[in-house]
Amino acid sequence: MITGPRSGVTIVVVIDSTVLGPALGGCRITSYPTWNDGLDDAVRLAAAMSEKAALSGLHHGGGKTVAVLPGDGPLPADRRVDLLHDIGDLVQAQQGRYWTGPDVGTSPDDMAVIAAGTHRVFCRPRHLGGSGDSSGPTATGTLAALDHLRRRVLAGRGWDTIAVTVLGLGRVGSRIAAALAGRGARLTVSDVAADRQDLAARLGARWSPPEEALTAPADILVPAATGGLLTAAVVDRLSCRVIAGPANNQLDDPATGDLLHARGILWAPDTVVSAGGVVYATAVEIDHLPHDDAVHRVHQIAGRLDDVLTAAQQHDLSPAAAARQLARRRLRGSAAGEQGAGQRTRIH
Ligand code: PHE
Repeated sequence: MITGPRSGVTIVVVIDSTVLGPALGGCRITSYPTWNDGLDDAVRLAAAMSEKAALSGLHHGGGKTVAVLPGDGPLPADRRVDLLHDIGDLVQAQQGRYWTGPDVGTSPDDMAVIAAGTHRVFCRPRHLGGSGDSSGPTATGTLAALDHLRRRVLAGRGWDTIAVTVLGLGRVGSRIAAALAGRGARLTVSDVAADRQDLAARLGARWSPPEEALTAPADILVPAATGGLLTAAVVDRLSCRVIAGPANNQLDDPATGDLLHARGILWAPDTVVSAGGVVYATAVEIDHLPHDDAVHRVHQIAGRLDDVLTAAQQHDLSPAAAARQLARRRLRGSAAGEQGAGQRTRIH
C-alpha cells in the first residue's frame, strides 16, 4: 500500500497467489468509508481472482488494485491521470508478480495511461494493441452460464416463460439485460441510478427499485452490481430459484453460500460466471488467439459451471463450497508439481 507520490491517493495492490503463474486482477478506483475498508475489499477481491483463475484453467493467480478515492466524488481529470501513473509505477514495482486490468471505475483508456509505466496491463484499447473492453466478453460468459442453468435447472424452458431480474445496469449488466430482452425473457431491471429507467423502457423491461428487485419473485436473479449483496438476512427474504451474475464477491461471507443451498436456491459461483473478461483478455494477449477462438474459450464457462454443479451434487456440497474445493485442488496439484501449470506464463 502506498500514498501515490503524484496523486496523494491511497493505492493498495494485493497479491493473493502466484502458485499457478503471475497474479492477475483488475484495478478498482472507487470510494470507501475509510482506506481500511478499501484494503479489506482488495484482500477479498484478490482471493476471489485466485479462485476465478484456478477454476477457469488459467495459468495465473489472483490479485487486485484498489485506489481509495478521498470523499464521494470523482477526482479532477489531471489528478486522475496522476493517479493512473502512480498505479502504473506500483504495478511495475511488483516485478512481474502481478498484472492489472480494468474493473469498477476504470476503462480501457485508463489502461492505456497505466501502460506508460508498465506493460503488465490487460485490456488497452484495440488500436493500441490491447484486447479492448472486457465487459462484452464478461457478458458473453455470463449469458453462456445463464443458458446452461436454463437447461440444467429450469428444464430447458423457453426464455419467454422465464422471469429474470438484472440488478445493476452498468457496462456488463446492460449488455446482459439487452441480450435477455432479445431472447424474449420476462425481464425486470434495476439500478441505484434512477436515470437508467430510460434503458428499461427501451428494452421493454419492468423497472424496479433495487431493494424491491432483490427480493421480488423471479426464476433467475442476476447480480451485476458491486458485491456483498447476499447476506444471511437477505437470503431469508429471497424468492428466486437461481442466482447467477457477473458481480464479484456476491456473498458477504462464505457461510452464506450454505444458507442459499439450504433454502434450495441454486447460487452459481461468481468466480465461474464472471470469468469471461479474464478468459478473453488472456486468450488474446497472452496466448495470441484470434477473436473467435477467444470467444469460444469464453463459452466454455458453461461446461466449467456444469463441472462445479455436478461436483456439488456428488459430494452433497453447496456450489460455493464445491467451487472452493475444486480451486484449492488445482492450486495444491500445481504446488505438488502438476504438469505444465505455472510454466506457460513466464514472469516477464
Ligand atoms: N474486472 C475483471 C475481473 O474482475 C478484471 C480483469 C479483466 C483483469 C480483464 C484482467 C483482464 O475479472
